[in-house]
Amino acid sequence: MVIRVLYITGITGHTGTWLLKRLVKEKYQGPIRCVVRQGSNTSLIDQSGLNIEKVYGDLDDLAFLKESMKGVETIIHISWIMHSPKVVEAAIENDVKWAILVHTTGRFSKYKSASEEYIKIEDSLLVLKDKINLTVLRPTMIYGSAADRNMIKLIDFLNRFRAFPLFGKGENLMQPVHARDLGNAYYDVLMNPDVTMNNNYNLSGKNPITYKKLIETVSAKLNKKTILISLPLRFSVVSARIYNKITSKAIISEEQVLRMQEDKAFSYEKAKRDFGYNPIDFEEGIQEEVQLYLKAKGKR
Ligand SMILES: NC(=O)c1ccc[n+]([C@@H]2O[C@H](COP(=O)([O-])OP(=O)(O)OC[C@H]3O[C@@H](n4cnc5c(N)ncnc54)[C@H](OP(=O)(O)O)[C@@H]3O)[C@@H](O)[C@H]2O)c1
Repeated sequence: MVIRVLYITGITGHTGTWLLKRLVKEKYQGPIRCVVRQGSNTSLIDQSGLNIEKVYGDLDDLAFLKESMKGVETIIHISWIMHSPKVVEAAIENDVKWAILVHTTGRFSKYKSASEEYIKIEDSLLVLKDKINLTVLRPTMIYGSAADRNMIKLIDFLNRFRAFPLFGKGENLMQPVHARDLGNAYYDVLMNPDVTMNNNYNLSGKNPITYKKLIETVSAKLNKKTILISLPLRFSVVSARIYNKITSKAIISEEQVLRMQEDKAFSYEKAKRDFGYNPIDFEEGIQEEVQLYLKAKGKR
């Protein structure tokens, strides 16, 4: 399939970097235009050997988007769901054929504060399918390296402290996804337009895992014996409420404690069927991240 200009946002980010690596591996031939910022680290783009043009600008800037999308056929918008409305508006104005939008499974949270905005944005775009072909990709929590800003904090905590406070029993399910699996998924979606165009996919890790098991797995990979201190849920909620009343700079809210109990496991069967999505198991993926962490700490 010949693609005219492929326009990518967020290629310097955690998952975008894996997409770039896949494009390099596949010796992607077509012209690529990437949105970067003045401070972005573009070294991988510069060394890629691909036909990549960098355009400097901000995704909040509609005029920049409209101007930089001239001649574009397909967009992979990785950067952030909050930029999607402007990206799609500029794309429609430029007669872009297809926009692949990376959003989030956060839209499925039963807590409105987590999901309401995502649902509003996504649904307002999905009705535009008569103007542009759209594909929405919804990752779960992303991990894979220090760039994840999620799991790396947990790894660091478990490495530094012997005890870990667990709100409730930790039996809620999670299904974190490795950044590499997402980079590969973006590429495979792009290469399979016959099935992926105008479809939506949840992109999760191989198997659901309980939060407690997840902590135990990370701890084991660090060769630590972590003591899990299970705090009864009601106590945790009341404590968070009091804590938020007495400080204006609380680091956790009552609702965040409750949201931690929510299952965040999502099936990827449709992605498996349509473009062969086959993510890595958490145990294997986190092993890599722990090794990277320890290496950065100079321990191995
Ligand atoms: N983290 C999670 O657990 C999670 C879960 C579900 C969904 N998601 C979503 O999945 C997507 C991919 O995540 P990721 O981890 O790859 O993201 P990331 O590492 O945070 O990368 C964000 C990318 O967007 C660029 N960017 C951010 N704001 C910009 C702006 N105003 N103008 C131009 N470029 C901008 C960044 O450029 P610079 O290099 O200049 O910073 C970077 O390339 C994102 O949409 C994210 O919201 C994340």
